Amino acid sequence: MLVTLEGLDGSGKTTVWNRLTEAYDEGYTFTREPTRSWYGDAVRRSIETDGADPLAELFLFTADHADHLQRVIHPALDQGDIVVSDRYSDSRFAYQGAAIDGEMPDPVEFIQSVHRPFTRPPDLTIYFEVEPETAVHRSGATNKLEQLAFLEQVQATYEQLIAAEPDRFIRVNAEQPLEAVTEAVESIIDRHAGDETASN
Ligand code: TYD
Repeated sequence: MLVTLEGLDGSGKTTVWNRLTEAYDEGYTFTREPTRSWYGDAVRRSIETDGADPLAELFLFTADHADHLQRVIHPALDQGDIVVSDRYSDSRFAYQGAAIDGEMPDPVEFIQSVHRPFTRPPDLTIYFEVEPETAVHRSGATNKLEQLAFLEQVQATYEQLIAAEPDRFIRVNAEQPLEAVTEAVESIIDRHAGDETASN
């Protein structure tokens, strides 16, 4: 089973993911995008560059995803692990969908069509729901992807993705204290991991 964590910057996602890595052990693989490979380094370099071409940036993120699938996701799923990824393909659909908006007619569909032939879709996506204002406040808006107008558009796209696949997404209110968010996420994972074991 592949579980992904999605949401705006500053939603507490990464902090919760860190706590999960401590709470769960055998049978779980914790991973994240951008990855810690040199592809991920290239992505981070681009993010920090104002004026970087957004289409080029999309393909850097997508290259990192392709490497992530081959190196981490497929091997972990093949050995039967429950894989939990902090960000995954929906981050591209929502963030780069917003970043390349205006460059082509239907950017989100374009990015999805690039992924479709090779990606492994998540079985379950936990969406950390925060207002863009909270996200900007908490993340400190230190780079171009963390600005208010941009995050409002990212949020709107996440909502479209959820509307298109309501069964895949579970919302968590990430305006709550981190303790409560962590508990909510753990109970979702436990419930679904239990279902997975029961069906095997
Ligand atoms: P983030 O989750 O903050 O990673 P880290 O904590 O390792 O730096 O992701 C970095 C930024 O990249 C964040 O603003 C979200 C953005 N992002 C995209 O725009 N597209 C993507 O496909 C991914 C994975 C992240």
